[in-house]
Amino acid sequence: MIINSSIIRLNEPKVRHSNKPAAGEMPNSGPLIDRWGRIHSDLRISITDRCNLRCVYCMPEEGVPTLARQDVLKLEEIAEIASISFDLGVKSVRITGGEPLVRKGVETLISMLNDVGFEDLSMTTNGMYLESMAEKLKSAGLKRVNISIDSLDEQKFASIRRRGDLAKVLNAIRAAKSVGLSPIKVNVVLMKGQNENEILDFARYGRENGVIVRFIEFMPLDASGQWSQEKIVPADSVVETINECWPTVPVFSEGLANSAPAKTYRYLDGKGEFGVVASMTAPFCGDCNRLRLTSDGAFRNCLFSIEETHVRQLLSAPDSRKQVERAIRECVWGKKMGHGTDEPGFVRPNRTISMVGG
Ligand code: GTP
Ligand code: 5AD
Ligand code: SF4
Repeated sequence: MIINSSIIRLNEPKVRHSNKPAAGEMPNSGPLIDRWGRIHSDLRISITDRCNLRCVYCMPEEGVPTLARQDVLKLEEIAEIASISFDLGVKSVRITGGEPLVRKGVETLISMLNDVGFEDLSMTTNGMYLESMAEKLKSAGLKRVNISIDSLDEQKFASIRRRGDLAKVLNAIRAAKSVGLSPIKVNVVLMKGQNENEILDFARYGRENGVIVRFIEFMPLDASGQWSQEKIVPADSVVETINECWPTVPVFSEGLANSAPAKTYRYLDGKGEFGVVASMTAPFCGDCNRLRLTSDGAFRNCLFSIEETHVRQLLSAPDSRKQVERAIRECVWGKKMGHGTDEPGFVRPNRTISMVGG
């Protein structure tokens, strides 16, 4: 699909490192580096492509075809790949889906990943099953959760997410807080004509409940054909709307947080922070440190990748760790500078967001 960039000016990806490819060959040791000098230390693992909701920005009402059970990585296989990634310098792991909490044994997996020794172990969930699981997840070693919510209005919640209910998600947020998962981030994918009028309601909710609300620009990764450039609510306009009511200052982050997709703002009156994920109007590819593992064992170097590197079959080789390491290094080395959604030849990835993990 070709995207017309005349409606919203899409900026060049921010380049923190050199924008010239590093000369020479792919290194066989040291950290996971790409041709552009970006070091990869964050792994997002999709543990299932199944989901109990049908959000309009993600899936059509009837859902999308899902993987056969035997094609999904076993928990031990996920843990083994994560451990190899750890040895290659991966410091943080995020568990995603589909909806990760529909996968049986998720707390066992968290405990296995916790044993590997990552600095950060987090999850992104739609919150429907979280209330009753929060305690178990925390005890297994989960540090924090990001919970998608999208609307604070029951009817609008139902029209955006099509299934589930708002009260369950609000209870999940309270439960996550009470068991000490921290910080709690609340994700809102903004779409013109749907929930853009809730920016201040969400900002107020974040301020009053001690959670970090993040407003996310709608990306062309849905399987439902709903995306169009006109539906993007630009992050700048969100910041402006909130600042008019509650002034903020941008937060400059360091270390792992500097590569995070969200740009964060702190309220001057001390009532916390909110964030924006400006994937479309201000891409942050120049700072990217992320790679992804799909639930059937393929590495992807970008959310928008059209290529992937399958590693499952390598796990049974006699020198499996070496082979998987090489495959991961090659995948990272082949990463493009930017996601390219504003380029004339942009092609949507064949796997949409619920299959790759958001
Ligand atoms: P933390 O900042 O570590 O809490 O996590 P996060 O914001 O990276 O994770 P989350 O799963 O909550 O993602 C928030 C939004 O950022 C979602 O819409 C993701 O699809 C989007 N996102 C995550 N990684 C990338 C990325 O590499 N590129 C783009 N364009 N969007 C991303
Ligand atoms: N655009 C932006 N964000 C999306 N997410 C799902 N689909 C899209 C999309 N098309 C978000 C979810 C969740 C995270 C995993 O990705 O809301 O917060
Ligand atoms: Fe499910 Fe997440 Fe897609 Fe919503 S965005 S349908 S919660 S996978």
